[in-house]
Amino acid sequence: MDNQKSKKLWGGRFAGATAASVEAFTESISYDQRLYSYDIMGSKAHATMLAANGLLSKEELASIIEGLSSIETRIDEGNFSFKSELEDIHMNIEKALIDDIGPAGAKLHSARSRNDQVALDFRLYLRDQCDRFVELLDDIRRAFVLLAREYMGQIMPGYTHLQRAQPVLISHHMMAYYEMFGRDRERIIDCRKRINILPLGAAAMAGTGLPIDREQVAEILGFDGVTANSMDTSGDRDFAIEFTSCSTQIQLHLSRLSEELVLWSSQEFSFVQIADKFCTGSSIMPQKKNPDIPELIRGKSGRVVGSLMSLITLMKGLPLTYNRDLQEDKEPVFDTVDTVSASLAIMAEMLANLQFNTGRMKEATQTGFMTATDLADYLVLHNVPFREAHGIVGRAVAICIEKGCELTDLTLAEIREFSPVIDKDIFEVLSVEGSVNSRISTGGTAGLRVEEAVARAEKQMSDGD
Ligand code: ARG
Repeated sequence: MDNQKSKKLWGGRFAGATAASVEAFTESISYDQRLYSYDIMGSKAHATMLAANGLLSKEELASIIEGLSSIETRIDEGNFSFKSELEDIHMNIEKALIDDIGPAGAKLHSARSRNDQVALDFRLYLRDQCDRFVELLDDIRRAFVLLAREYMGQIMPGYTHLQRAQPVLISHHMMAYYEMFGRDRERIIDCRKRINILPLGAAAMAGTGLPIDREQVAEILGFDGVTANSMDTSGDRDFAIEFTSCSTQIQLHLSRLSEELVLWSSQEFSFVQIADKFCTGSSIMPQKKNPDIPELIRGKSGRVVGSLMSLITLMKGLPLTYNRDLQEDKEPVFDTVDTVSASLAIMAEMLANLQFNTGRMKEATQTGFMTATDLADYLVLHNVPFREAHGIVGRAVAICIEKGCELTDLTLAEIREFSPVIDKDIFEVLSVEGSVNSRISTGGTAGLRVEEAVARAEKQMSDGD
């Protein structure tokens, strides 16, 4: 029994030792050790507050701070042995502190429970991840702005239903992704606001009778405020779900982009060349150059979506307040952080090495009646009701298909047969350049608008927005 008591920080009320199978089943140290620096940071702030409120002497505080710093150094340097019988990161560190500095270490856990401690560590960790994600999103946004600038004026087909629809500027397509990742960035910044509230002081779930000062801890740790309800605090993980949901959205955007890169690098499209160093070959087919990076990013979206589902399902039906189920929150979040950050980083690197085959892209706009809508709009400008114009152009396209030619191959006389309002200026309208440049509505693909969008983005990037 003495042996048991010395081993477990909570061993007091237990007569027998924990079964080895239970220790193995309940431990989280194998993965929550990732939180060690946050656990130590939180403990230092907590101890500082305890000392300021008469719960620790100056000497005890100094010894705790020094003891924690030395533990942190040992972990940093790989000289700390984590023990699964001590369950988790909180007890591994606390036990080492008590072993190192004695009775002062045993005072650290006053006015605190692992329930609010783990919530604190997780929030501190995710707050840093938000900041890191914003940087990674900025790298990828910058890559799109650079591509948009580099290929300014170059034309490609725009698609709906993956059928050639209307000609657009390559830069416009790039700026679409700039917008998507810009919204992802806003979402992460917004999510950080709800993460950055101090949970410590909720204790097990009812608060504490000891004289603590939560605001002081919040201030030391850079939190924007303290949580308002101790019961909510110890059972809440919606901040983690929100972070994972925002991350899932990022991965979905990466996955869509990846799908385009896979398509575009196929021989059928031949729109882009992914640099050799981002591709791999086949062990049997010597001619192959495979777009593995975008394929893997697309594939990895499965695990990110899966993690979000795990978390949501984990929370469903949990009564207030803390339940051990909550320990299952960490692995899906860690996996999401690793997967999304690695995907963002490698995608930004790959984009910086991407080459568009502009000739081939332009050529792809020359067939498929991509300016048919422009002909309809031309008729509308000449007072033909749009529905009627739509019918006229449909018939013209049908005849071209029959003849095996494009609208631009028709003579003026032939086109006029469809409508007498048509004049020779129609050929400019039917050119892909004319079509692109006519789309001057806000957010449209006209060179003028895209130039404005790129200039605005360049300013945003240099202002750090
Ligand atoms: N390892 C635990 C977790 O991740 C820490 C909190 C444990 N609290 C408890 N009462 N057993 O949730």
